[in-house]
Amino acid sequence: MAPSPLILGIETSCDDTAAAVISNGKLLSNIVSSQSEHEAFGGVVPELASRAHQRLIVPVVETALEQARVTRDDLNAVAVTYGPGLAGSLLVGLSFAKALAIGLDIPLIGVNHLEGHIYSLFIAETHPEFPFLCLIASGGHTQLMRVDKGLRYTVLGRTRDDAAGEAFDKVAKLMGLAYPGGPAIEHLAEKGDPEFHRFPRTRLPGFDYSFSGIKTSVLYYLNGFSDAERKALYAEHLSDLCASFQEAVIDMLVQPLRRAVRETGISEIALVGGVSANATLRGRLEALAKQSGGHLFVPDQAYCMDNAAMIAVAGNHKYIAGQHSALTLTVEPSLSFA
Ligand code: KG4
Ligand code: ZN
Repeated sequence: MAPSPLILGIETSCDDTAAAVISNGKLLSNIVSSQSEHEAFGGVVPELASRAHQRLIVPVVETALEQARVTRDDLNAVAVTYGPGLAGSLLVGLSFAKALAIGLDIPLIGVNHLEGHIYSLFIAETHPEFPFLCLIASGGHTQLMRVDKGLRYTVLGRTRDDAAGEAFDKVAKLMGLAYPGGPAIEHLAEKGDPEFHRFPRTRLPGFDYSFSGIKTSVLYYLNGFSDAERKALYAEHLSDLCASFQEAVIDMLVQPLRRAVRETGISEIALVGGVSANATLRGRLEALAKQSGGHLFVPDQAYCMDNAAMIAVAGNHKYIAGQHSALTLTVEPSLSFA
């Protein structure tokens, strides 16, 4: 085994085409090309995403290698997301990675995208002590995990319907805001009153989540106004509406975690996935961790949204542990932890 493996990571599970190079655990490059073709649709269009990945995969990988000042021949392994995600999008990344692994005669390492988000915590030098609680909140997933030594995971709870980021995206679309909705809503919410309107919070037993109710209640609330009234409401209170909605989602994300801290006695908390970019959510979880004598860990902003650095880091760990994948590996759009 090479003492300092040089690994290429590839991530194409949704609408970001990404490649990163890591050497001996140190990140040398991290390239993400976010597809703009979905903006007009207020959400990701799977067919457009896979076509864009086909167009972007070669230049994105080439740029990642160039920036890292290495060539394909220097690589010891290629790590790639094989699920969960959009089938057509995953297929582009996995097929490219397989071709590279075969052509260069190096190992292929399949990485679970959600596991990748957890590994994003290990890009920085400071990371949580085991065991820790990890909330994965993205556009496609909302899961609460317990992570033990050796990165062994237990799923404590998951969403029964929409993901938290999906709720941000769908509500932003209802209010005519840009995609992705999370940053747009957070930006407006900064100037808004979170108590302007109290949207009902869905609370489930245990540690599960549900975000379809909040989306419907925003829809019903907005439909209660005539077109003219709604226009006036947006003109005067759009930021208040965003703040009220954001507050409800954050309450619903924090509550199961608070219960998990109480029931497990674990106060080291990590927040990963696109929604972890939200400063109000970070603040709330930081307070929760502090109250219980622990700490909150969040990846740097560049590693919150989908990226290949997290896939390369996961690949590095798996390479060292000798966990290679067979070349018969196939995409698993509905892959989960359990
Ligand atoms: O992890 P990610 O890049 O892709 C998936 O795996 O889904 O997450 C994207 C999601 C989108 O739904 C986006 O609206 C949400 O993360 N997001 C945010 C913020 N930034 C991105 N949600 C709330 N506040 C933000 N600042
Ligand atoms: Zn993700």
